[in-house]
Amino acid sequence: MGPRTAPLLPLLLALLGRPDPARAKGCDLQLVTGEWPVTLSYTTSTVPRGCSSSSSLNTRHEVHVLSVKWSKDSTVPLKVSITPGATACSRSPVLVLLCSRCFATINSQCPQLLIHTDAHLTSGTTTEKGPEPSMASSEEQLLSWAQTTYGGITSYSELRDPQWVQLRLGEDASSPLNCTPQDDFNATLHLKTEVFFHEVKGCSHSDAQSTRAAHIIHLQSEPSTPITEVNLSLSCPENHVSNQLLILQSRANFTWSLSFNKCNIQVMASGYSKIMHMVLPGELLPDTEQGLVAKAFEKNCSTIASYSSIPATTSISLEILEHESVKKRTETTTPPAPPTPPAELQPHQLLLMLKPWKCTDETMEITIIRSHLKAIKDLDIKDITLRDINCQAEKNATHFMLKSPLSHCGTLLVGRGYANNELVIKLSKGTALQSVRVAFQCEIPRELFLRLFPTAAFEVPQTELEVNKEAFLQASMWWEDHPADLQLKDCWLVAPGREPVLLVQGGEAHGAGVAVLEGPSSSHGRKIWRFRFTYAVPEGGRIPFSATLKCKAGLQNNTIFEKVLEVTVKDTWRPPNSRGLGLAAVLGITFGAFLIGALLTAGLWCIYSRTPKVPR
Ligand SMILES: *[C@@H]1O[C@H](CO)[C@@H](O)[C@H](O)[C@H]1NC(C)=O
Ligand SMILES: *[C@@H]1O[C@H](CO)[C@@H](O)[C@H](O)[C@H]1NC(C)=O
Ligand SMILES: *[C@@H]1O[C@H](CO)[C@@H](O)[C@H](O)[C@H]1NC(C)=O
Ligand SMILES: *[C@@H]1O[C@H](CO)[C@@H](O)[C@H](O)[C@H]1NC(C)=O
Ligand SMILES: *[C@@H]1O[C@H](CO)[C@@H](O)[C@H](O)[C@H]1NC(C)=O
Ligand SMILES: *[C@@H]1O[C@H](CO)[C@@H](O)[C@H](O)[C@H]1NC(C)=O
Repeated sequence: MGPRTAPLLPLLLALLGRPDPARAKGCDLQLVTGEWPVTLSYTTSTVPRGCSSSSSLNTRHEVHVLSVKWSKDSTVPLKVSITPGATACSRSPVLVLLCSRCFATINSQCPQLLIHTDAHLTSGTTTEKGPEPSMASSEEQLLSWAQTTYGGITSYSELRDPQWVQLRLGEDASSPLNCTPQDDFNATLHLKTEVFFHEVKGCSHSDAQSTRAAHIIHLQSEPSTPITEVNLSLSCPENHVSNQLLILQSRANFTWSLSFNKCNIQVMASGYSKIMHMVLPGELLPDTEQGLVAKAFEKNCSTIASYSSIPATTSISLEILEHESVKKRTETTTPPAPPTPPAELQPHQLLLMLKPWKCTDETMEITIIRSHLKAIKDLDIKDITLRDINCQAEKNATHFMLKSPLSHCGTLLVGRGYANNELVIKLSKGTALQSVRVAFQCEIPRELFLRLFPTAAFEVPQTELEVNKEAFLQASMWWEDHPADLQLKDCWLVAPGREPVLLVQGGEAHGAGVAVLEGPSSSHGRKIWRFRFTYAVPEGGRIPFSATLKCKAGLQNNTIFEKVLEVTVKDTWRPPNSRGLGLAAVLGITFGAFLIGALLTAGLWCIYSRTPKVPR
């Protein structure tokens, strides 16, 4: 489909009523035909076609046939290494390697290996080249040539775009009598290979606003596959500017063991990610091509630089290219330099993976476990602040901790339940002092929050409820779409062995000693209800150890949000606090309220709670 017709598709799909987030955004994944955005290779023992047989058991040779096909002309010599199997090198082995127009280096631990090949053998080859087979191009002709020449075939494997092949010698009496090639053949018994992946797809947002690009690896695995861990080694061009996101999709019980080489890239993985022995939990990612593309757009990418869907494997190497290096690669025929040992993870990269932030509807909390920072050698963090550098993390021997209200410390509330800020980290790495800024977005959960306070200032929440003493309950929730839609249904106080007490119903106070102090009020899409109540237990009554406060809020369409707050119940007398009206006065009024009725107290408290307070 040409670029001119592409925009018609989303329109058609929209008319057909089928939502398609990727296409609706004007990004239609196509095979990459021009310059390659990445070089991706992975190890596998499954070959596109192959077979093994026991037909060579009673002949003089074991015979392995490799037929190599290329999607693109190869510029790197193919490395073939031959290792003896259980039978050592006792029977004279034969390798038939069909690889026209290709360079190959064959390294054999069995010196008497006989090679038939049409490839150009490079100087590293350790054995003599035998006569070139009068090879025909088709699979059938190749196999019948080997069969008639040697009387049997031990294994046959077709390989597509291999970088290296490890061939293990040995024959298996339990293999079928004839070598009849099958698709997607499991050749684990004989070989392991690393193949280039040449079906990389990509697309670009038509009205691109950001320059952020995503690379996506989608690991397809059969439920039966025994593989549970994949080593991903990632390398990037020198001096590349990081505005890229790497999305790794796999089964949830998969572990991505990551090593980075000069890469400065944000990583999102489903399953677990492991960096230098540190295991981080992953996140839930969609399992479809469209879903993953939509996820990348959601993360502000405008381009899918590469999308690779590959079978389950234990090792992947991904090299992100820039146009210069793409040119270099096609101009030169020398093999790439041997991989350098993985360079270190960058501090901001680590923080983006640790995601040490957590938001509620009114607070932002940062908790960094110091031992997690050991993933970076010689890293010594001096100081962590938010965007507003007056908001500094406290530290102890094991943690860095910071808690701030969402209204402070430079936090910005962006629509749809997200709070933005930056971690500013002063660190020394080796002897160099640096300052690293990591911008982040913290999701405000769409749930009802319940908090219990000891005073009408609603300042420091607690989880203790004192009997016969006023307590202050706050229910709150972010609901930006239509705040009026959200209603508080009811709140109960439930204690074991006692009748549940209904405190609030339909947003109104219910029962003696309960008063509405505020509610609901809403600001920036956050809705707040506040109540005062007293948990009255008559003198001599049994006092439970614990209780739960349970509230429900709901939408017009009967969606219910329920929250339970566990509290411990206390029956102690505390000396009055001198702030505000004074607790003695408050208690006097409360006890009085049993006689006079709740209205008077409610009135007094309304006046008090609306009097502006001087912040501490
Ligand atoms: C391939 O066969 C081997 C045994 O020969 C087995 O252990 C392995 O699980 C198989 N692999 C796949 C992908 O089926
Ligand atoms: C998206 O990217 C653009 C340009 O890179 C940037 O200006 C914008 O702030 C980003 N938006 C978010 C939500 O990150
Ligand atoms: C991993 O999860 C899949 C289902 O997603 C399950 O079939 C498989 O048994 C699990 N493997 C292990 C090793 O737990
Ligand atoms: C991954 O790499 C590490 C070290 O490089 C190695 O010890 C481990 O065996 C590899 N795992 C797999 C599944 O290949
Ligand atoms: C540091 O503070 C955290 C959070 O309050 C706490 O869980 C941890 O036990 C503290 N560590 C030490 C060594 O005191
Ligand atoms: C009710 O409305 C909310 C938002 O308007 C929506 O997210 C939810 O799916 C709806 N629930 C039902 C059962 O329709």
